[in-house]
Amino acid sequence: MNGVSVAKSPLSSSCAAFLTPPPLPVEEKLALNPPASTADPATIARGEQLFGRNCAACHGESAVGGGTVPDLRASSFLGNDFWYEIVLNGAMKDAGMAPFKSVIDHQDAEAIRAYVIHRAHEDKAMKHAGSPVKSALDH
Ligand code: HEC
Repeated sequence: MNGVSVAKSPLSSSCAAFLTPPPLPVEEKLALNPPASTADPATIARGEQLFGRNCAACHGESAVGGGTVPDLRASSFLGNDFWYEIVLNGAMKDAGMAPFKSVIDHQDAEAIRAYVIHRAHEDKAMKHAGSPVKSALDH
């Protein structure tokens, strides 16, 4: 692999299998322990847009995972700079996670991470209030 051909259209081929995942009770099994949410609202909003465009097809709308790929809200890489190795440089490409560095830059990846951290905090708070977030699969 020379790494050139991979990232042009990360959504194209490998995603079909993820679009109709079985309805697993994901919410119950997840332990959400995100790092502190320190980004400003503008960054989080930008991250939301970028996530919707680049990541949601596989990782779920509103970052609620469908059970077949990791739910990013619970990812240990939220608090860890290996996030960039995975998202930009393809550290997990053999597992089906394409490198996005031809599509987004480091700042974009940072905004996406800020958004996912923000979502993890939202949903953690919701859970404590006793009203679990509905899965994004329900629509
Ligand atoms: C084509 C489908 C697909 C798209 C699009 C996609 N991912 Fe992934 N992603 C995967 C798969 C599959 C894995 C699981 C690798 C494994 O652990 O087996 C993964 C894993 C990850 C992980 C590691 C999670 C963990 O805790 O193990 C991160 C972080 C991640 N993706 C971030 C992103 C971000 C950010 C985007 C958008 C820029 C994105 N992904 C877009 C399929 C995708």
